[in-house]
Amino acid sequence: MTIIVTGGAGFIGSNFIFHMLGKYPDYRIVCLDKLTYAGNLSTLSPVMDNPNFRFVKLDICDREGVYKLFEEEHPGMVVNFAAESHVDRSIENPEVFLQTNILGTQVLMDACRKYGITRYHQVSTDEVYGDLPLDRPDLFFTEETPIHTSSPYSSSKAGADLLVLAYHRTYGLPVTISRCSNNYGPYHFPEKLIPLMIANALNDKPLPVYGKGENVRDWLYVEDHCKAIDLILHKGRVGEVYNIGGHNEMRNIDIVKIICKALGKPESLITFVTDRKGHDMRYAIDPTKIHSELGWLPETKFADGIQKTIAWYLDNRQWWETIISGEYQNYYEKMYGNR
Ligand code: NAD
Ligand code: DAU
Repeated sequence: MTIIVTGGAGFIGSNFIFHMLGKYPDYRIVCLDKLTYAGNLSTLSPVMDNPNFRFVKLDICDREGVYKLFEEEHPGMVVNFAAESHVDRSIENPEVFLQTNILGTQVLMDACRKYGITRYHQVSTDEVYGDLPLDRPDLFFTEETPIHTSSPYSSSKAGADLLVLAYHRTYGLPVTISRCSNNYGPYHFPEKLIPLMIANALNDKPLPVYGKGENVRDWLYVEDHCKAIDLILHKGRVGEVYNIGGHNEMRNIDIVKIICKALGKPESLITFVTDRKGHDMRYAIDPTKIHSELGWLPETKFADGIQKTIAWYLDNRQWWETIISGEYQNYYEKMYGNR
């Protein structure tokens, strides 16, 4: 079995590649990644010499390049993680989100149609459902919740999801879609809440909490997400959407306080800054379908996962210090300088 994994030099894609190469010694994994600011080849160094692994620097929007790769590799499956993934960046510059997240998805599926595959899996997000109110803790996102997006990022992901389902219905492409809640764990790019707060706290820098910090996210350890996708690929029903989440809702401010405590840093570092435009209040996944159909349950409790994550950032300072010492400085100044 050869699987093309797009976006494998990013956070979740790299964790997925490690999971698959570890679990399936007979599988060949071909990672296709453009290496944008969010892609990091050093992340893949543990598998670069693995004979079952190949890395190809390529844009998923590059139709000719993608078709050539399919001709070379004859993949049985494609798992599409490649995306512009940061909401704040989408608010600054939506265009690249539409290009990669929608048009790139189309190119990949056209290649799948042309060359034939047994499964195209689209890695989507709970953000396509919009948000839930804070005063209705009884409400959760199910697979039937209407699409109701807030940001250019979530709109681009929703557009891609609709296209994936259309390719299934119109052309019979064997697709699945997963919509996961917020991930955390190793190799998370330091523009996102948890790694940003860990890096800033370790550098005794202010911890910029948007608004009042009351927004709620439903956190899942990245390995649990990877295991869920593995299950969907092997046992999921074609044409179906599966929500992934572990009932672990946390307020942003509480996460930041946990990080301060774990690192022995004062809460006085917390700085409330101007809110994100269109900021979603609460995400909460109902994972009943993937649990009852495929038997998936999260294995890592948040209390353990966050300690493992913090330990990883302490042990791998070079990985994130290299990232935040470069172009990231300009990004940080632009986003947080006058906030
Ligand atoms: P990330 O930003 O860490 O990584 C994205 C990767 O895609 C990078 O390696 C980047 O170089 C690559 N990429 C971007 N544009 C590309 C292009 N045009 N062609 C080829 N490669 C390209 O993202 P992530 O957090 O690992 O998210 C991966 C996927 O999971 C995304 O589709 C995202 O929407 C989805 N998702 C993320 C989360 C989360 O909490 N991070 C939760 C649910 C779903
Ligand atoms: O829910 C899944 C989504 O989770 C994925 O689809 C996205 O790709 C991923 O980036 C993530 O989106 P969020 O917007 O929820 O993640 P982020 O880490 O950017 O922010 C988490 C919360 O923390 C959000 O309410 C905004 C807030 N925040 C974020 C940053 C970066 C802050 O308060 N301060 C910050 O500096």
